[in-house]
Amino acid sequence: MNPEATNRRTVLLAGAGSVAVLATGCGSDGDNGGTTDSPTPTGPATTAEPTTSAPGTSSPTAAPTSAPAGDALTTTGDVPVGGGTIFKEEKVVVTQPTAGDFKAFSAICTHQGCIVGKVENGTIDCPCHGSKFRITDGSVVTGPATRPLPAEEITVSGDSITLA
Ligand code: FES
Repeated sequence: MNPEATNRRTVLLAGAGSVAVLATGCGSDGDNGGTTDSPTPTGPATTAEPTTSAPGTSSPTAAPTSAPAGDALTTTGDVPVGGGTIFKEEKVVVTQPTAGDFKAFSAICTHQGCIVGKVENGTIDCPCHGSKFRITDGSVVTGPATRPLPAEEITVSGDSITLA
């Protein structure tokens, strides 16, 4: 039985030695202890960018603020009255509970994060475990979800619906 004990001790010692070597390796390269000689040159030194400090006349390439082009999510005609449309890529569902009244909610189910699958019979339905949310306010109609779908901001301009 002695050889076994010796072997085990040897293994343990070898393991301890490895750990000691590793610890020493880490410690010698600038751990938190010991030498206070290192100056740590990480001050707010030479990264002072001018940040376009031109006085007065700003650059001519400012935001145009005239055309909201390109960001339109959908059009009002694509969202059925009493229903809604799911935009999986944007993870948004836009509903129109009554004519001209548009709402938007996150399409991520608050139960376990599936993307909702359809809008039907006044509810936004999750295919994963059957949760249903009201198209009017995102509140839970049927669990297992217990929290409503968070509202998303949209802007309706003419027949264009844009994520705010
Ligand atoms: Fe939607 Fe479970 S993730 S019901």
